[in-house]
Amino acid sequence: MLEIISDPQSMRSEVLKARAAGHRIGFVPTMGALHAGHASLVARAVRECEAVAVSIFVNPTQFGPAEDFERYPRQLQADCQLLNEWKVRWVFAPEAAAIYPPGAATRVVVGGPAGCFEGEVRPGHFEGVATVVCRLFLAVPADAAYFGAKDWQQTLVVKRMVCDLGLAVDVVVCPTVREPDGLAMSSRNALLTPDERHRAVALFESLCCAERMWLAGFAVAGIEQAMREALQARSVSVDYAVVVAADSLEPYDASLAVSQSGAKALPVPVALVAGRVGSTRLIDNRVLPART
Ligand code: PAF
Repeated sequence: MLEIISDPQSMRSEVLKARAAGHRIGFVPTMGALHAGHASLVARAVRECEAVAVSIFVNPTQFGPAEDFERYPRQLQADCQLLNEWKVRWVFAPEAAAIYPPGAATRVVVGGPAGCFEGEVRPGHFEGVATVVCRLFLAVPADAAYFGAKDWQQTLVVKRMVCDLGLAVDVVVCPTVREPDGLAMSSRNALLTPDERHRAVALFESLCCAERMWLAGFAVAGIEQAMREALQARSVSVDYAVVVAADSLEPYDASLAVSQSGAKALPVPVALVAGRVGSTRLIDNRVLPART
């Protein structure tokens, strides 16, 4: 039976009790408005752990002043019903003041993979993400935490933070779940009008185009141009459309790709896209397969 907990200390002691009883604990941090993407994270956590906690907290510090914090979908009751069906043990749904007590003045700032793309377009975003995830990890001291690959850069930032702070949690990255037409599941999809929903498939189309061109041997610059054109063809205003190294987000070094020396392993490439469909901002990505 699902238990809803809002106090971080109570949440922490429940998890520590279960761990002391020898249970492996899984944790899925979310901002709610749950969809099939979250369901797949929870299903994996339930498969791999004896008890699972899900947090629902729309974190104000990861939204910029002109972003969609106010209109971000909120549906706690419906979410709890789903989480009960999905066999989750605890929902951690704190008030903002429990996460950021009056006078809170501590932030977690990650460098490295947080500096580019989302970090540039949304200044302060990853500081908000890292700070809240760190705070959530303290309230839910789980063995493993599950994140979706749709937020590729976020997974790198969280892994960097976990490694740098020596946090004892396994970060598990799960594949993106898609609508039948390819649109990546996202809570923000609920904000799209029917026409925008139709046009939003451009993100997936641009990634398919990137993969086709990559496998056909095109250079990165040409692929990026074609990705931008695929987005613009459906009037998506492009923030970025790039092919970069998947683990560092550094420019994909084409010279390495043609290097015959074998001295350095080739980076795995990932195509990243972000853009605005109407007033809703969406992101997506695809790790590109090896060229044979
Ligand atoms: O991916 C999300 O939903 C959020 O960024 C997270 C990890 C729950 C932090 O607020």
